[in-house]
Amino acid sequence: MKYKGKLFRASKEATGDLNAKVGKIPQQLKSLFVLFLVLISLFFLLRHFFTPDTFGKYGHYRAAAIDSIMSQPLRYAGAQLCMECHDDIYALKIESYHRDVSCEGCHGPAIAHTEDPSEFVPPAPRERGYCPLCHEYNPSRPTGFPQIDLTSHNPPKPCIDCHDPHDPKPPHTPEQCSACHAEIYRTKAVSHHAPLLCTRCHEAPEAHKDQPRMHLPSKPTSRTFCGECHAMEADSPKDIPRIMMSDHGIGYVCWQCHYPHYPEVR
Ligand code: HEC
Ligand code: HEC
Ligand code: HEC
Ligand code: HEC
Ligand code: HEC
Ligand code: HEC
Ligand code: HEC
Ligand code: HEC
Repeated sequence: MKYKGKLFRASKEATGDLNAKVGKIPQQLKSLFVLFLVLISLFFLLRHFFTPDTFGKYGHYRAAAIDSIMSQPLRYAGAQLCMECHDDIYALKIESYHRDVSCEGCHGPAIAHTEDPSEFVPPAPRERGYCPLCHEYNPSRPTGFPQIDLTSHNPPKPCIDCHDPHDPKPPHTPEQCSACHAEIYRTKAVSHHAPLLCTRCHEAPEAHKDQPRMHLPSKPTSRTFCGECHAMEADSPKDIPRIMMSDHGIGYVCWQCHYPHYPEVR
């Protein structure tokens, strides 16, 4: 009982207090406002002292940055300059697979060399470890990008024993699709489609191996292609799993649900 009375009194006091304060700005808001003013002034003060002089002259950046960047020493000369003295190598490379790889990408910054070739000769990356920076097998590289498995591709010889870095065509045309489509090859090799040759599903012109992008192989285009082996009525070995073409995944091509190089159902 005693306890209840106390509570009642306390809440009554609180309401009275509140009534008295209606219409006034509470003290804590005033303090907040002052704090806010101090922070804003501090911001403008600091901004005044710390903004570089030329900031905002041309745009939202420090105009003097242009001069300080311009005053840095030049390091790269550009392939055009190399051509003046190494026109033979330039001409070789521009027609090769490495046409888009810049000279200084492999030889390092070489402007000092172009000014006085006897003063500084750029290094040439002759060791085996260099080329794999771009060519070691890596699933994130685009499909068709020439890649090798470093442990099995002609160890331990340096790459330049067989490939001219300025015209890196392989000494002979790759025989296997796997030379360039390593990831698809490896995926298929552990799938139910392992026994199928690539050429069972793709007609690849011989020239595809020399100029792959100019002569693309064919790809299956319709459901009936897969049906050649998998339809109920197909004339194919008995152990191949069959489906009813008329009600299995209709409205889609098969490879919207089954990756053709790894068709297992999960
Ligand atoms: C003014 C002419 C000149 C220009 C321009 C020039 N070079 Fe050279 N370069 C030479 C000469 C001369 C040598 C031979 C130097 C020596 O062996 O002492 C040479 C040698 C080289 C070597 C040989 C390295 C080695 O280990 O055998 C490389 C690499 C090279 N240059 C790359 C370049 C690159 C890259 C460029 C463009 C950025 C370039 N050069 C531009 C004249 C030039
Ligand atoms: C893919 C990397 C790569 C690119 C791109 C490249 N080089 Fe080279 N370069 C090499 C390697 C590796 C050697 C060493 C070759 C050797 O010793 O047989 C070399 C050697 C040289 C040499 C020494 C002479 C010779 O023929 O062995 C010169 C000069 C040269 N390169 C200039 C150039 C120029 C100029 C360019 C651009 C047009 C260029 N390189 C592009 C990797 C490259
Ligand atoms: C900066 C990356 C880079 C470096 C370093 C590089 N390459 Fe390449 N390489 C490429 C590119 C890009 C292609 C062209 C790929 C294409 O056409 O799809 C290529 C193509 C090739 C090819 C394929 C030719 C074909 O038949 O498809 C060979 C072989 C090759 N390079 C060997 C070498 C060797 C040897 C070295 C070291 C001296 C080297 N590469 C260093 C980027 C590089
Ligand atoms: C003993 C000679 C030899 C050496 C050393 C060698 N290769 Fe090859 N390379 C070949 C041959 C031959 C092929 C043709 C395809 C095949 O048979 O594998 C080839 C193919 C390639 C391909 C694929 C070409 C394509 O069209 O996709 C690349 C990339 C490649 N080599 C890069 C390298 C790199 C990088 C090194 C050094 C780590 C190297 N090679 C060392 C002989 C060699
Ligand atoms: C010298 C390297 C090389 C060899 C060897 C090679 N390919 Fe290709 N292939 C490529 C390149 C590069 C592409 C283009 C990739 C891209 O555009 O993304 C390609 C694309 C393809 C495509 C896709 C075509 C398309 O329209 O998208 C198929 C399918 C294909 N290759 C099948 C094969 C088959 C099958 C073999 C073996 C008989 C083979 N390739 C051998 C380099 C090669
Ligand atoms: C069972 C038939 C079949 C076999 C076997 C097969 N492919 Fe394919 N492949 C296809 C189909 C279907 C597509 C089209 C997939 C798409 O369009 O999404 C395709 C697409 C491709 C592509 C285009 C890029 C991609 O990944 O979609 C390449 C490259 C390719 N195949 C290479 C190969 C190579 C190399 C082999 C042998 C190692 C091979 N294929 C074996 C059916 C097959
Ligand atoms: C040349 C005949 C042939 C063609 C064409 C063919 N397959 Fe197959 N397929 C097979 C064989 C063989 C198996 C494996 C049977 C086994 O494992 O016993 C198989 C297995 C499968 C499986 C079953 C995997 C599992 O989990 O049992 C699927 C799904 C499949 N293929 C889809 C396709 C698709 C999609 C295509 C068209 C791109 C296609 N197949 C084209 C011969 C073929
Ligand atoms: C809409 C998605 C889809 C499409 C499109 C599709 N499938 Fe399937 N497929 C499945 C699923 C899910 C399963 C597993 C369940 C089942 O057996 O129905 C399967 C199972 C299979 C099997 C294994 C049957 C077994 O008995 O093990 C084969 C073979 C097959 N599909 C081939 C094909 C072929 C060939 C095509 C094109 C004509 C195709 N699929 C189109 C989703 C699809």
